[in-house]
Amino acid sequence: MKEFWENQAKQFKGGMSAVNFDLMEEELEHSLLMGLLRDNTDICDVGCGNGRLILHFAEKLPGARFFGMDFSENMVASAREEAARRKIGNAEFAVADATAPGAFAFGARRKFDTVISKRLLINTKGRGKYTAADNILEILKPGGRYLMIECFIEPLQRVNDIRNTLGLPAITVKEFNEYLTEGFVSDLAGKFTLERKVDFESLYYFISRVFNAGLSSGQPKYDAPINKLAVKLALAGVAPIEGLGPETLHIWAPKSV
Ligand SMILES: C[S@@+](CC[C@H](N)C(=O)[O-])C[C@H]1O[C@@H](n2cnc3c(N)ncnc32)[C@H](O)[C@@H]1O
Repeated sequence: MKEFWENQAKQFKGGMSAVNFDLMEEELEHSLLMGLLRDNTDICDVGCGNGRLILHFAEKLPGARFFGMDFSENMVASAREEAARRKIGNAEFAVADATAPGAFAFGARRKFDTVISKRLLINTKGRGKYTAADNILEILKPGGRYLMIECFIEPLQRVNDIRNTLGLPAITVKEFNEYLTEGFVSDLAGKFTLERKVDFESLYYFISRVFNAGLSSGQPKYDAPINKLAVKLALAGVAPIEGLGPETLHIWAPKSV
C-alpha cells in the first residue's frame, strides 16, 4: 500500500491526481475547512499527501503555522518542493507513519490547535486506526480540535443500494482501504468528545454517483455540469438530503483526564 502512494507521488507530483481524482470533492473539503481554520494557530495535517491542503491554506492564513506528515517519502518531497516553488514559509513537512506508536513524538514535541486527517484513516486497518487516533490525541493542545474528514462504509452501502435499483455497478472500496464504521465513532468517544458531525457531501455524492452516473454513457466525468451544479448548491448551504455521502467531518475535542 505504501508503494501505491510512493508511485502516485512520483507520477503526479504536486497535482491533485496524486491523492484524489475528484476535483469537486476537494472544492467542498476546502470550503468546509475555510470556516474552521484560524490564522495565528498551529495546524497539523496527518497523512498530508503532497501537501495540497496545507499549501492552499498556508497562503490564505499567512500567520498560521502548518505541519504536514505522511509516511510516503515521495509525497513529503513533493510537498516540500511545491512549498519552495511557491515561496511558502509557514509550512513544514516530515515523514512519519501514523500507525506507529509514538510516531509523532518529534524532538520539540510540537502540539497543535488543530489536527486534521483527511482520508488518512481509511488507509489504515484494524488497530492501526486506534493507534493513529492515539497519536493525534498526543499532539493536540488542551482545548485543541481534531477534524476527522474520513469516509464511512454505511453511506456508501446506501448509495450502492440505490445504484443497484438503476442497474449501476456497486462502487467498491480499494483493497488497501478500510472505510470507517459508526462503531469506530463510538469507540473514539472514550478519548474524545464529539462536538459536531457535518454531513457535507451527501447532495454532491448522490447527484454525482447516482444521477450523473445514471445519465452517462461510459465513464462518468467528475466535472460534468450536473456535478458542478450539485457543488454550487452544496457551497450555498443547500442540504436537502443526508446519509448518502461517505466522506463526513467529525469535530472531536480531547477529553480532559
Ligand atoms: C487518499 S491520500 C489523502 C492525502 C491528503 N490527506 C488529501 O486529502 O489530499 C492518503 C495519504 O495518506 C498517506 N498515508 C497512508 N497511510 C499512512 C500512514 N500509516 N501514516 C502516514 N501517512 C499515511 C498516503 O501516503 C497518502 O498520501
